[in-house]
Amino acid sequence: MKRIILIGFMGAGKTTLGKALARMLGRPFYDLDQYIEGRLHKTIPEIFAERGEAGFREVEKTMLHEVAEFEDVILSCGGGTPCYSDNMDYLNRQGETVFLNASPEVLKEHLLMGGSQRPLIQGKSPDELIPFIRETLSKRLPFYEKAKHTIDIRVIETQEEIINYARLINEKVAN
Ligand code: S3P
Repeated sequence: MKRIILIGFMGAGKTTLGKALARMLGRPFYDLDQYIEGRLHKTIPEIFAERGEAGFREVEKTMLHEVAEFEDVILSCGGGTPCYSDNMDYLNRQGETVFLNASPEVLKEHLLMGGSQRPLIQGKSPDELIPFIRETLSKRLPFYEKAKHTIDIRVIETQEEIINYARLINEKVAN
């Protein structure tokens, strides 16, 4: 079975939808950040603090090459994963890449709702989020747009919305 690989900015819904899709299809789910944390026994903020962002990107690439070799998986990447080194080309070789495309406003909503700690936005006020997202997203879009499939994402609040998006991803990759 082809691997399904979710990419997109922080707060697009990669982990939430990846988990739901894996449950729906009865396939193994991996979240790259969680995999890194498990392998290194350290949190993502700790890795950033110890090695800096460049050090994190090296670790991320190494771990990506482990997890994206597993068979049949549904894989959610980190927001920056496709945008460094030759990761995006590698991802396209490894499976059906799906870009979860959300506007800065939707991303901001999701980021404010979510409880995860993200070093790149730590200490930013809600007002500072939109300019940061716009600027970073514009640099990242050329990478994200190399995905084989794209799904437009609105604010996701209910379980029903999660299931509907999971179905949509499944239909996209099947065609
Ligand atoms: C990052 C996104 C994070 C995590 C790290 C860096 C990024 O993943 O990999 O904090 O560069 O956008 P999520 O997209 O799952 O938050």
